[in-house]
Amino acid sequence: MDKIVIEGGHPLQGHVTVSGAKNAALPIITACLLTGGWHRLENIPRLRDIETIIRILSQLGVAFEFEQNSLRVNSGQLSGHEAAYELVKTMRASILILGPLLARYGRAKISLPGGCAIGARPVDLHLKALAAMGVDMFLDQGYINARVDRLKGAEIFFDTPTVTGTENIMMAAVLAEGETTLRNAAREPEIQDLASMLRDMGADIEGDGTHTITIRGVKELRPVEHIVIPDRIEAGTFMIAAAMTRGEVHISGCRTDHLSAVIEKLEAAGAEIQTIEGGVTVKGPEIMNSVDVRTMPFPGFPTDLQAQFMAAMCLAEGWSMIRETVFENRFIHVSELERMGADIEINGGQALVRGCEHLLAAPVMATDLRASASLILAGLVAEGGKTEVHRIYHLDRGYEALEKKFAGLGAKIWRQSE
Ligand code: UD1
Repeated sequence: MDKIVIEGGHPLQGHVTVSGAKNAALPIITACLLTGGWHRLENIPRLRDIETIIRILSQLGVAFEFEQNSLRVNSGQLSGHEAAYELVKTMRASILILGPLLARYGRAKISLPGGCAIGARPVDLHLKALAAMGVDMFLDQGYINARVDRLKGAEIFFDTPTVTGTENIMMAAVLAEGETTLRNAAREPEIQDLASMLRDMGADIEGDGTHTITIRGVKELRPVEHIVIPDRIEAGTFMIAAAMTRGEVHISGCRTDHLSAVIEKLEAAGAEIQTIEGGVTVKGPEIMNSVDVRTMPFPGFPTDLQAQFMAAMCLAEGWSMIRETVFENRFIHVSELERMGADIEINGGQALVRGCEHLLAAPVMATDLRASASLILAGLVAEGGKTEVHRIYHLDRGYEALEKKFAGLGAKIWRQSE
């Protein structure tokens, strides 16, 4: 197993390019199940979660050709309709095959994802919506067995906006009989990217990016070429890193309209942010101001940047209150940050961060994907030796060559086998 070693104290300087969005690429790859023929997907990041979805679809008989960040996908000849526990347990987003498989084949068998480090994360809203569309489901040995002759359009109300739930049901509805309306749908940019691909395939979808999405089922779809949007979470991670290391970084390939909440908070913390064609330049202040943050569904502050922003607030002047409202139990990075000298007090879903003068280098353990990024950010500013971040397979799930990109910005950071 690898670890990441960081010698902190070097301001980030220079230019970095953001990769394609993992959370857009995952549903976009599963959307290829909806029709045969070769799709061409561009700007696909090379990371573990993408490998996992490719492995799951390969087991169903889908053909892939990967060349750098360009992925060709053909699901013309499916040989199965089952996603096994061994793969699903490593990535909850595997549930995204359910909607498209039912839409095209009327059958799917997929292991229930189970718990994960950041809370219970059920998929009940996905299943309730599919049941409303006529799907019969039963649970056997931890697997959901689902069957339907043809999906029927339905009025669906999500109790809470769910990102993959909205995507799954949107993909199910594009080939259903009649009209489906999703109310209280999630509005994340990744959903709009998927909708735009589905429309190019011939789907009839309106309202993505709002809380109400209407989908009128069509008889068939066609393969397409699609370019995945840039990863706003990776971009936000670089923005926070530039600000907290007192650096100056130009981040290209990032969509500022996807990052308004983050930009506002970083500016309040004292960073100078300039939007220029195709990207932003972020210049960090001498000392950051403390800023309160509350995670919310898009366009609110993303839960996927909460841990990274908390790392920045550890060195801010004053106290900052960080509220996590999207997931329970998403503060597991706190005890690791404390090992580096951070002063944080958790009370239910809120964390009070008291800014301190220094963070100190230490060996720490990554506990989930975004927590690993926050520990790396802390390592970039830590004093007194080397920070070692262990269990970085979490990081490799969702960031493309993060340590290489930081090294390109002047950080002293490298990967080493344990
Ligand atoms: C997606 C993202 C993840 C991000 C999250 C929130 C992908 C692959 N992953 O995860 O990176 O952190 O959105 O922005 O896109 N919920 C239920 N029942 C359900 C579904 C969700 O109660 O059936 C709850 C969840 O427990 C959570 C909230 O709804 O409290 C939002 O979760 P959801 O938007 O579904 O997260 P994911 O789609 O799994």
